[in-house]
Amino acid sequence: MARTFFVGGNFKMNGSKDSIKKIVEDLNAADLPSDVEVVISPPALYILWAKELLTNPTIKVAAQNSFPKSSGAYTGEISAPEIKDAGAEWVILGHSERRTIIKETDEFIAEKTAHALENGLGVILCIGELLEERDGGQTLVVCNRQLDAVIDKVKDWSNIVIAYEPVWAIGTGLAATPEDAQATHLEIRKYLAEKLGEEQASKIRILYGGSVNGKNAKSFSACPDIDGYLVGGASLKPEFIDIIKSRE
Ligand code: G3P
Repeated sequence: MARTFFVGGNFKMNGSKDSIKKIVEDLNAADLPSDVEVVISPPALYILWAKELLTNPTIKVAAQNSFPKSSGAYTGEISAPEIKDAGAEWVILGHSERRTIIKETDEFIAEKTAHALENGLGVILCIGELLEERDGGQTLVVCNRQLDAVIDKVKDWSNIVIAYEPVWAIGTGLAATPEDAQATHLEIRKYLAEKLGEEQASKIRILYGGSVNGKNAKSFSACPDIDGYLVGGASLKPEFIDIIKSRE
């Protein structure tokens, strides 16, 4: 099953009007491969700005979070309809920083995922284990638990892209090896096949995230079950374009 390669840039809580303008202008000017889906995710305050500046219509925008209600007395939150209204087509949900720092539960992330999909957003669903969970041999137990919460609420995964992000590789410069990442991605895909059926599982893109950079990206792209990347720090740098171009 050929799956379109997908490269997401998660800017996290970084950037300014000037810095995001520079990133978008560099992306606009780049000769990007036509067979790679590119999505950038600035802080919510800069979604409209990024959309205004983008001249390459194939580059899409994602929010980094959304609330599981469309409107109401939820101070500080943003909703899927508002994200769509701002011109973004994706939302990153379940990022480990929101699971560990904001204490979002598997169930809340699943509720957000279902609501975002119901409101026409694509979802980049992040899963991944902590260092102590990896060391305890719990990687797949954790990933499967995180997936189960969403499987319970969502049966059509055609607008979900999974990002497997081992937490111990995020922001550390210590990426997983391509072999280890591929092995985990394969197990994730097998689990999805068990739960959702072979056909759906074969179509779901599974991205790797965790210290991807211009030097190591190519080594991941050759792995059959690694369908792209969710890039953090390097998405703020010119090497993000090298990463997009990194496919073998
Ligand atoms: O969402 C992607 C992010 O968590 C990866 O961060 O800086 O290790 O590429 P980084």
